[in-house]
Amino acid sequence: MLNSLGKSSLITSTMSKPRLEGKVALITGAASGIGKETVRLFAENGAYIVAADVQDELGQKVAATMGSEKVSYHHCDVRDEMQVEATVNYTLDKYGSLDILFSNAGTIGPLTSILDLDLQGLDNAMATNVRGVAATIKHAARAMVARKVRGSIICTASVAACLGGAGPHAYTTSKHALVGLVRTACHELGAYGIRVNAIAPFGVATPLCCKAYNLEPSQVEENCLNAANLKGIVLKAKHIAEAALFLASDESAYISGHNLVIDGGFTVVSNAAP
Ligand SMILES: NC(=O)c1ccc[n+]([C@@H]2O[C@H](COP(=O)([O-])OP(=O)(O)OC[C@H]3O[C@@H](n4cnc5c(N)ncnc54)[C@H](O)[C@@H]3O)[C@@H](O)[C@H]2O)c1
Repeated sequence: MLNSLGKSSLITSTMSKPRLEGKVALITGAASGIGKETVRLFAENGAYIVAADVQDELGQKVAATMGSEKVSYHHCDVRDEMQVEATVNYTLDKYGSLDILFSNAGTIGPLTSILDLDLQGLDNAMATNVRGVAATIKHAARAMVARKVRGSIICTASVAACLGGAGPHAYTTSKHALVGLVRTACHELGAYGIRVNAIAPFGVATPLCCKAYNLEPSQVEENCLNAANLKGIVLKAKHIAEAALFLASDESAYISGHNLVIDGGFTVVSNAAP
């Protein structure tokens, strides 16, 4: 009886403590889709957040909805290193620290065959998905190292980082490179107690997918359901945000260098019938 009472009160107190209480997070690509959902979940879990994006109106709206004390919007095009540095400095000025970077901004790039590959489009995809992420890791890590913060850095990759054939050429190339970057950053930053991980979602009906393929969210979800390994559930941005929350929190204290694939098993099974 006593044991069970003790146990249940311990569970209650652990569960009631917000998982990111007092932590400061910078989230890129925060105006829409996965980033927007992560702003909401991190704020609910006690974090102070700088939401960064190039879509200023949408980004301001996200911050206003969450409450301006805990979430503020800052314009940041991750392709421009000076804007990335300024956004990290803004975060430090506003909230006094930086504990979590969710480097999530991304673009799909050209959808064409390799036979017609638009090389400028490839460069553009690399500029956001690799160079942009590198700039965010560089400046966030500098801030963490200088303040001796044992931070958590999370980057959004994709199932296209694990397979050929799960995305267009430029996108797949850039997301593979991003996982390499996560691993090298994990190697160097481990010495400072900083963890670096990736998350790799399967298809989610965000504006990125819907606009690229000119489909309604319901059509994207139907296509994803048909291709999925795990049936009876539709992958939503909130599922990705929950994985980011886990990697941001102390619950993943010894997890670094991982690419957490959120795909219901899609990348470990073959499409071929048994
Ligand atoms: N939706 C999917 O199916 C899916 C699957 C796997 C991975 N991802 C990845 O998830 C991440 C988030 O995408 P999403 O699906 O939420 O799409 P989204 O279009 O809803 O959000 C992407 C956000 O990134 C912002 N952005 C784009 N380029 C930027 C830049 N240069 N600087 C700053 N912000 C920029 C956009 O303005 C947008 O708000 C991306 O990295 C994407 O590659 C998405």
